[in-house]
Amino acid sequence: MKHFKRTLITSALPYANGPVHIGHLAGVYVPADIYARFLRLNGEEVAFIGGSDEHGVPITLKAKKEGVSPQDVVDKYHGMIKDSFEKFGISFDVYSRTSSKVHHETASEIFRTLYDKGAFIEQTSEQFYDEEANQFLADRYITGTCPKCNYEKAYGDQCESCGSTLNATDLIDPKSVLSGNKPLMKQTKHWFLPLDQYEPWLREWILESHKEWKPNVYGQCKSWIDGGLNPRAVTRDLDWGIPVPVEGAESKVLYVWFDAPIGYISATKEWTPDWEKWWKDSDTKMVHFIGKDNIVFHCIIFPAVLKAEGSYILPENVPANEFLNLEGDKISTSRNWAVWLHEYLLDFPGKEDVLKYTLTANAPETKDNDFTWKDFQTRNNSELVAIFGNFVNRALVLTEKYYDGVVPEKGELTEYDTQTLADIITLKAAVTRAIETYHFREALKNAMDMARLGNKYLADMEPWKVVKTDPERVKTIMHTALQITANLTIVFEPFLPFTTNRLRGFLNLNPLNWSELGRTDLIKAGHKINTPELLFEKIEDDAIQAQVDKLLATKKTNELEEAMTNPAKSNIEYEDFAKLDIRIGTIIAAEKVAKTKKLLKLTIDTGLDKRTVVSGIAEYFEPEKIIGQQVSILINLAPKELRGIESQGMILMAENSDGTLEFVTTPNKTKEGSEVR
Ligand code: 2FM
Ligand code: ZN
Repeated sequence: MKHFKRTLITSALPYANGPVHIGHLAGVYVPADIYARFLRLNGEEVAFIGGSDEHGVPITLKAKKEGVSPQDVVDKYHGMIKDSFEKFGISFDVYSRTSSKVHHETASEIFRTLYDKGAFIEQTSEQFYDEEANQFLADRYITGTCPKCNYEKAYGDQCESCGSTLNATDLIDPKSVLSGNKPLMKQTKHWFLPLDQYEPWLREWILESHKEWKPNVYGQCKSWIDGGLNPRAVTRDLDWGIPVPVEGAESKVLYVWFDAPIGYISATKEWTPDWEKWWKDSDTKMVHFIGKDNIVFHCIIFPAVLKAEGSYILPENVPANEFLNLEGDKISTSRNWAVWLHEYLLDFPGKEDVLKYTLTANAPETKDNDFTWKDFQTRNNSELVAIFGNFVNRALVLTEKYYDGVVPEKGELTEYDTQTLADIITLKAAVTRAIETYHFREALKNAMDMARLGNKYLADMEPWKVVKTDPERVKTIMHTALQITANLTIVFEPFLPFTTNRLRGFLNLNPLNWSELGRTDLIKAGHKINTPELLFEKIEDDAIQAQVDKLLATKKTNELEEAMTNPAKSNIEYEDFAKLDIRIGTIIAAEKVAKTKKLLKLTIDTGLDKRTVVSGIAEYFEPEKIIGQQVSILINLAPKELRGIESQGMILMAENSDGTLEFVTTPNKTKEGSEVR
């Protein structure tokens, strides 16, 4: 394996259109920070780069919605994000932003170099244009009906109801977000990076030479490459971003995904005049920390840009993570479904490391994972408090009690003492290997095993009993326990930096290096430790309940908003309505459809016949309780097979704002077969 002289760590630049949440942290910043701290602790030369991504359409839309300028939006969130990262202890060497002058210059320059080399192709195509607003419309500026599921508020690039990726031209009845008008098609010229030309090179560079990349990353790259790469537009018609630095490109800007990764370079420039050694020396190892939605940009498009430029290094690894969900639902900035870092810092002061611990212990490294407040509480109370905290507290309190806080001389070690100290070295190797291969969950588990080791050592040695019979032996036990404690200040340093800092304070120790981890003389006999305090404190149920309640309130608000924004459908003719044959019927039998959560099989007396209807109401009604219930049934709906059962009609339900359902029926008993019209 090649030995590098230095490591350049980049972490995805978060969009400055909202605060940072636990999904960002678990996916990108916490693992990147662990890696950076670990390398620094090993005495390696590291640059840890971060910054805000301040371009792109969502920022302009947010500005429009709030009636402020895009610069106002990014100023607000950049400040907020930077501040919360700092308080949370993400140890960036520089945290920059893409609206900075140096970034505009850097991105322009790289575009211009590629342009001069003939690395782009120019293409004219038809795009939607809003005549009233006098501008071309980005995909997000167009809404219309989804051709796949008929959802009426789909965007030009995606339907958020069925999740399909769309082209703006696919939308039925497209409308401009700016004026509400139907947009026209108009010709416009753009510059494209011909990714197809890079395919053989990408195949070799990733699929042959980087087989060690994480399976999720390698797999995504492979399917992009095997699927055939197409030219990608790197410019847009928009008035927010970096102007395209060539003639004939007025009112066009660089595509946000062209300029954002260049932000890593600009930030490095801002940090040091010696930036080139970080970007242009093959002795630098570059690692991109990102979430899975950024893989194609960091593994295919940005490398193609760097390759075309010619003088830059390429990433050695891109350890992308999957997603973190929150209490079973996808985290969403627009739906406010998140645990926001700035709020966490206010609600749990001094507990930065508890969140870091939980997010690493449950990191979405190989699959999507779920954050729950219950799990957060358990990890704190049963792991940090009960194992790590308990061990440290016992070691320190007993030293205080027996020796007035002065580290005792050790006597002869037993086999058990020696084995325990040897286990530290085995665990060190395991943590090291895991971090070096980006397995941070496993690394943390091994670090925690070192605390477990100490906890077990004291529990097995029972110095509080031995002290009555063999006080000399207790000196060796406590000496050993304190060496383990001192080792914990090193092994946890990459993961829980606030904690190790406090622990060093308790022990009256200076920061130590990773190379010292495993030593059994980190703390000498005669050394005076400070009066101990608790390293972690229990989190009580009411603090957790308050967080759960906050999320429930968000859920309610969202549902209410959705119900209120459910727009009226467009008018229809009476003849259309008259086609519906709706009757009053009575449910005479009901049972669950096997292996489904939502479906009930109903038998309905319609007055004309008795027929079977499969209905998606099982979550709200128990079959035995709805026998005799009168319903409105649409009887001339074409029959449809659902789970192997033919459904002959549909019963009408009203939906409450909380999603529960009610039968639509008459207030008094009505004869079966009566028409509803
Ligand atoms: O997905 C995102 O949040 C992007 N803002 C990440 C950009 S990463 C890099 F390219 F800057
Ligand atoms: Zn859809």
